[in-house]
Amino acid sequence: MAKANWRNRTLFHGDNLAFLRAMNSETVDLIATDPPFNKGRDFHATPDSLAAGAKFQDRWSWERDVHEEWTDQITDDHPRLMEAIESARYAHSDGMGAFMCFMAVRLLAMHRVLKPTGSIYLHCDPTASHYLKAVMDAIFGWKQFRNEIVWYYRRWSAAARQFQRMHDLILWYSKTRDYVFDGPLQGYSKPEFIETTIRGVVDGRLVRLKDEAGNYLQREKENKGVLMHDVWTDINFIGPTAKERLGYPTQKPFALYERMIRASSKEGDIVLDPFAGCATTLVAAEKLQRQWVGMDIWERAHEVVVERLRATTGLFGEVHYETAPPARTDAGEAAAPFLRVKERVKEPDGPRWSRAKMYEFLLAQSGPRCQGCDRTFDDPRYLELDHNTPRSDGGLNHVSNRILLCGPCNRLKSNTYTLSGLRRENKRRGYMR
Ligand SMILES: C[S@@+](CC[C@H](N)C(=O)[O-])C[C@H]1O[C@@H](n2cnc3c(N)ncnc32)[C@H](O)[C@@H]1O
Repeated sequence: MAKANWRNRTLFHGDNLAFLRAMNSETVDLIATDPPFNKGRDFHATPDSLAAGAKFQDRWSWERDVHEEWTDQITDDHPRLMEAIESARYAHSDGMGAFMCFMAVRLLAMHRVLKPTGSIYLHCDPTASHYLKAVMDAIFGWKQFRNEIVWYYRRWSAAARQFQRMHDLILWYSKTRDYVFDGPLQGYSKPEFIETTIRGVVDGRLVRLKDEAGNYLQREKENKGVLMHDVWTDINFIGPTAKERLGYPTQKPFALYERMIRASSKEGDIVLDPFAGCATTLVAAEKLQRQWVGMDIWERAHEVVVERLRATTGLFGEVHYETAPPARTDAGEAAAPFLRVKERVKEPDGPRWSRAKMYEFLLAQSGPRCQGCDRTFDDPRYLELDHNTPRSDGGLNHVSNRILLCGPCNRLKSNTYTLSGLRRENKRRGYMR
């Protein structure tokens, strides 16, 4: 297994995609992260707070935010993932599709960097959780889905004609079935949580449980409680007067991230948060003696991490601030066989053509004719741009490897036939002479 190609306590500043893609495969034990939720608005920090000036945009547009390189990669190498994205786009909006695309390319990279025993906790809310779960199923495999954790909190909400929304969701997936889990316990009689592990009391506290009438039950020593359930009701939202509040928009409580870190990693393990914000995950990891690496696009994240670490853990001056992606020192391989990125033939030099330009070029060259069955169409919109040799078999993106096919031929060809194979199959089926 490759070694980490960054130092413990590194904060990368910039778009996390470049950093994630530059990390060695299978080097991270746990990802606990809280990305934008697609709330359709921008977030700003409270003025005069430690985080003053912080803001991030959480609205998405297919035209502005989706790169063709992403859709090409996903369509060619992970067609089922593309279907999950398209279904979000059709059922909800282009904006939701764009957000899913943004997340999908990053989640593919996160999947690759996780060790086989690793896990990811993806924080979201009901705005996009159902689409994200389909995307996660396509990337991690539905068999690796472990829990949908409901974090219930009390918060004032102005809803008038619907029930008040008072929960977030955290999707937990493991990389394989051989994952780390040290599950906390909770009391039998009411949702009273005991921060202990199955193997023993962590902080040495003796916990006494009471029944509904207020009588003490057996001591914790004899009565350890049951494995915690997936609805967490004991952790408060960070309100305006909360002690740990920094004024950073969307800041999450330490207790929430401490629980995930305790449950799914061991001391000394590496914890990654690619959407670190004001460093809740990173500081929780430090407190629990884990190594950590964080990323954020906000330029002052570094100062806040240092200040928060100093105030919370007494750690001074050991945070490494990086703006350049690390150099890969592994073989550059993909971690999971079913997501392995195929060896690519290098694209010819020169500017890359857009799909629209390739389409126009082929139309001018062969007319509005399907190259799979020779049928001609009055309206060229019946023709779709496809690859001759599939990308998953190393085919180029270049126009020399592109063809125009009608819908039925495109579906028949899929990734099964080359163009000549498709034409043979069409003849065999009697669709052309
Ligand atoms: C919901 S906040 C995280 C809050 C964090 N859990 C906390 O407690 O402070 C999401 C963060 O993702 C960051 N972000 C958004 N897009 C990013 C990108 N492409 N690369 C890196 N960070 C990004 C934002 O700057 C923001 O700080």
